[in-house]
Amino acid sequence: MIYQVYPRSFADGNGDGIGDIAGIRSRLGYLSALGVDAIWFSPWYPSPMADAGYDVADYRDIDPVFGTLTEVEALIAEAHALGIRTIVDVVPNHCSAAHPWFQAALASPDAPERELFWFHPGRGPDGARKPTDWVSPFAGDTWTRTTNPDGTPGDWYLHLFAPEQPDFNWDHPRVRAEFEDILRFWLDRGVDGIRIDSAAMLAKDPTLPEATPDGPSPFVDVDAVHDIYRSWRRITDSYPGDRALIGEVWLPDHRRFANYLRPDELHAAFNFDFLGCAWDADALRACIDTTLTAHALVDAPATWVLSNHDVTRHVTRYGREDTTFSFATKREGVPSDLELGTRRARAAALLSLSLPGAAYVYQGEELGLWEVEDIPHDLRQDPMHVRSGGVDPGRDGCRVPIPWSGETPPFGFSPDNATATPWLPQPADWKDRTAAAQAGDGQSMLELYRAAIATRRAERALGDGGMTWLPAPDGVLAFRRDPGFTCVVNLSTTAVPLPPYTGRLLASGPLDDDLLPPDTAVWLRTPETTPAT
Ligand code: NOJ
Repeated sequence: MIYQVYPRSFADGNGDGIGDIAGIRSRLGYLSALGVDAIWFSPWYPSPMADAGYDVADYRDIDPVFGTLTEVEALIAEAHALGIRTIVDVVPNHCSAAHPWFQAALASPDAPERELFWFHPGRGPDGARKPTDWVSPFAGDTWTRTTNPDGTPGDWYLHLFAPEQPDFNWDHPRVRAEFEDILRFWLDRGVDGIRIDSAAMLAKDPTLPEATPDGPSPFVDVDAVHDIYRSWRRITDSYPGDRALIGEVWLPDHRRFANYLRPDELHAAFNFDFLGCAWDADALRACIDTTLTAHALVDAPATWVLSNHDVTRHVTRYGREDTTFSFATKREGVPSDLELGTRRARAAALLSLSLPGAAYVYQGEELGLWEVEDIPHDLRQDPMHVRSGGVDPGRDGCRVPIPWSGETPPFGFSPDNATATPWLPQPADWKDRTAAAQAGDGQSMLELYRAAIATRRAERALGDGGMTWLPAPDGVLAFRRDPGFTCVVNLSTTAVPLPPYTGRLLASGPLDDDLLPPDTAVWLRTPETTPAT
């Protein structure tokens, strides 16, 4: 199981209200007890934080708000001593506008660094129209016009995300060489994996055509991107141990998605279909089947993801009438039944932790945290919120600092002598969801995750391997994994009988004798069977 740490919000060691490396190091024991196999750290590099660190000014150092490179080296060593692998987040599509290359490019239209980005004249006689009408995932324009040193309007530069995040030109050999060196920098420091941000967006169609609804995108999943990952794979393969490349690939086409996982490219990619899928048995079954079929094409392990730092926390999603997730439909003020959402989230945990492949857990999901939806607008920092003119609630609500202990904020996130409050306010109701409040309580989400992860580690049937669907009533998912394991999830509205079993391993909620109530999952020991075909 791979656990995502979002450093800004995990634990604050120095009391400035912002999470840091010292905080993470102080909580490694918690992660070890939880049973994590690896930690993925969201970016911690020097950054003006226009996009919470996904705007990187220096890929080989640590932002002082988080600590130092020496501390990170110690963190990697301490994690390894506990048997925990480490994954760093590399952001290759774009850097920060404060990156020295971009600053040099801005300083003069003749600077050679211009070629490392997408500088382009505007359209029209005076160049006043942006080069294309491509729309940003962050809403709004993808081009910003520069001003020449003499004050006249100059060329435009491309930024698929915020203007503070200029896109690199991956056709340039210097960009490729630079990132290969950055990979080596981190691999040399012993990290076991690289999470690749916006992995399908690096290559662009250099003719800059307009995006059309039916044609191929000029900036997402352009074929040239695969050559980049082939060269990265050669690098990770040249290191001892199993070093993994994990792509953030949002693509609706499963075959195109699977292309990233060919044997000479990435090792894994996040399963956003599963994350966005409705809490519905037919939809989930179809999603699981499609996932396994797509991964079988390239013989790659599937991944199962319920939440991350970009999406509405799933306790909140699953309590809504529409339980799917998509950025386009994410809006403020949609009501959620958090009790129902929590019940479903517990069942979803047992589902995702028993499917074949790698499971990802986003910090706080093991505490059953919900999306914080009442953050005052002036405290929100996410460019998605700001650039949408407030229409999109943004992603701050899933990034609220973790509650560790105590009855009132900062709930142990910051030390007792802290000089500042947490960078985003924590709900007072989280007093029941702190790690300390849940530890030892057999009914808590934390203890459910601990038990499930321990069982997953102990059961030979779990992790890699295959699965076979079992006959089940409408609205119920039941599958077998060999040897001798069955998972049943009831997504219907009535209690259903359990299949034959020899023992109960774990349930996400109370069972009514041998009836599995709605929105509940159970892990059963079942008679040994021959491996599924
Ligand atoms: C994906 C990251 O997960 C997200 O947080 C970020 O805003 C964009 N890529 C741009 O880097």
